[in-house]
Amino acid sequence: MEVVVVGAAAGGNQVACAGAVAALAVLLCGFIYAAWLSPAATRRRLRHAGFDGPRPSFPFGNLPEITATLKATATTKSRGALPPPPPPPPSSSSDEDGTHAAVFPYFARWRQSFGKVFVYWLGTEPFLYVADPGFLKSATAGALGKRWGKPDVFRRDRMPMFGRGLVMAEGDEWARHRNIIAPAFSATNLADMAGVMRRATARMLDQWAGAAGSGGVVDVEKGVVRNAAEIIAEASFGIAGDEAGARVFEKLQAMQAMLFQSNRLVGVPLARLLHVRKTYEAWRLGREIDALLVRIIDERRQRRQAGSGKDLLSLLLAGAEGKAKLTTRELVDECKTFFFGGHETTALALSWTLLMLAAHPEWQAALREEVLRETGDEDAPLDAAALGRLTKMGWVMSEVLRLYPPSPNVQRQALEDVEMVAAPADQGKGGQNHSTTIPRGTNMWVDVVAMHRDTELWGEDAHEFRPERFGRDPVQGGCRQRMGYLPFGFGGRICVGRNLTAMEYRVVLAMVLRRFRLEVAPEYRHAPRVMLSLRPSAGIQLRLTPIVDDDLPA
Ligand code: HEM
Repeated sequence: MEVVVVGAAAGGNQVACAGAVAALAVLLCGFIYAAWLSPAATRRRLRHAGFDGPRPSFPFGNLPEITATLKATATTKSRGALPPPPPPPPSSSSDEDGTHAAVFPYFARWRQSFGKVFVYWLGTEPFLYVADPGFLKSATAGALGKRWGKPDVFRRDRMPMFGRGLVMAEGDEWARHRNIIAPAFSATNLADMAGVMRRATARMLDQWAGAAGSGGVVDVEKGVVRNAAEIIAEASFGIAGDEAGARVFEKLQAMQAMLFQSNRLVGVPLARLLHVRKTYEAWRLGREIDALLVRIIDERRQRRQAGSGKDLLSLLLAGAEGKAKLTTRELVDECKTFFFGGHETTALALSWTLLMLAAHPEWQAALREEVLRETGDEDAPLDAAALGRLTKMGWVMSEVLRLYPPSPNVQRQALEDVEMVAAPADQGKGGQNHSTTIPRGTNMWVDVVAMHRDTELWGEDAHEFRPERFGRDPVQGGCRQRMGYLPFGFGGRICVGRNLTAMEYRVVLAMVLRRFRLEVAPEYRHAPRVMLSLRPSAGIQLRLTPIVDDDLPA
C-alpha cells in the first residue's frame, strides 16, 4: 500500500514537473515570438513598404547609437561651456541656433541620411519618425485617425504616473472619459479657477520681490514650476496648505523624478528586471499616492452632498452624474493625469516666455503696455474679460510654443494596418502619389520641434522669435502646411487642458509684467534639453527689477 502511495506521489511530481517544463516552454516560445520573430517580421514589412532607417541590433534596436550620440553631444556641450558662453540671445537666427540638434542629436543625424520620414527602433519596438506634416496628414486624416492609439510601450512605462487616465485610455473607454472630462474645462469653470491662480502667483511674486529688492538674480523656472504645481494641485483636487495635500504633492514630484531622471531602456525586452529597485519604488509611491487621493475623493464625495467645491475633481463628480460615472479608481488616475500632464507643460511655456521677453525688450515693453492698458496696475483685479483682450500676449504664447514646445513630440501606435496614400513630397518619390501600408503595431514619433523650426514650412526666419507671425495668422502662424504646428497635439486627442493653460499663462504673465522688469542674467546658459518635456538644462536666471509707479507710462 505504501509503495503505491510513493509511486503515486512520484508520478504526481513527474506530472507537475512536466507541466512546469511545458509552461516554461510556452513562455519561452511566447517571448521569442514577441521579442524577436514578430519585430523581425514587422521590420521586413516596413522595408517592403519603402521605409528606410538606421540599422537596428537585437535586443537594443538603435538605443546604443542614441545613447552614444547623446553622450557625445553632452561632452561637446560641456567642453563648449568653458569659459561660459555669453547670455543667449535666443534671438539669433543661428539651428541655425542648434536647438533641434541639441535636444534630438540622433534624429538630426539620421535625418541627414533618411529624410523627414524613417524607421528607428527602441529595443524591439519599431518607431516611424515623422517630421513631414504632409505625411502625417495622409497617415491620420479622416477615417484613418481611428486606426491610431497610444503606444503600449509608453502606457506600460508611464502607468505609475497616468494609470488608465485620459492620456492613456483607448477606444470606448477614452471616449467615455473625454465626454465627462472636457466640459470641466469650460470657460465658466476656468474663470472660477483664476482666483487660485492669482493667490498662488501673488505668493511667488512676493518671494521674488525679496530677491529682486536685494539686487539678486532669480531662477524663474524653479519658481514658476513650483507655482504651476501648486495651482494644478489646488485646481484639480483642491489640496492647498493642508498636510494631506502637501504629502500627495511631494510624492507626485518624487515619482516624476524617479521615472524620468534615468535612461530606462524603453522597449528592450525584460529591461524592467534591470531596474527592479526603481520599478518597485515607483510602484510603492504610486500606491501611497493612490491611497491619499482615495481619501481626498471619499471626503469630497461626502462634502459634495453638502454642495461645495469648484475644482476639477468636484466638477468631475458633478459632471459624471446621470452619465456613466467615473469610479474612484478612475478619478484617482484622472487626478494624477491632470497633475503630471498639466503643471510642467504650462510652467515651461511660461518660463521660456519670461526668457524670450527678457531677451526681447521691445516685446516685453509691448506686452506690459497691453497688460496695463487692459487690466490696470498691480492692484487692479484681473477679470476674465480683460485677460481675453490681451491679444499680443496670445501671439507671444503661440510663438513660444512654436520655438520651445513643452511637449516636443507626439506619439501614436497603429492599432491595425494603416493603408495610406502618400503625397509625392512625403518620401521624395518624385511625381506620383503612391499607396503604402504601415503595419499594425508600428509606433509613430512625431518630431514637433523639427516641424516647428523647419524653414521649408515657416520661411527663412523659422528660428527667430517673431510673434507678429501669429498676428497675421492667429491659428497657424503662417505655417505652409496645416499639420506643421502642433503644440497641443492633433486629432480627437488634442490636449484637453489647453484652455486652462491659456488662462494660467495670462494670469501669471500679467502679474509678473505689472510688477517686474526682466533682464537675462549673466549666469544663464542657454541649453534646452528633453526630459519628457523640453526644458532648460540649468534653470532660467533672470535679473528682476521691481517696477515703481514713476516707471509706468502716464
Ligand atoms: C502648455 C501646456 C500644455 C501643453 C504644451 C500640452 C500638450 C499636450 C499634448 C501634445 C498632448 C497630446 C495630444 C496628442 O496626443 O495628440 C496633450 C494631451 C493631454 N493634455 Fe495637455 N498640454 C498642456 C497643458 C495641459 C493641462 C493644463 C492639462 C490638464 C490640467 C492637460 C491635460 C492633458 C490631457 C488629459 C491630455 C490627454 C487628452 C486625450 O488623450 O484625450 N494638458 N497635451
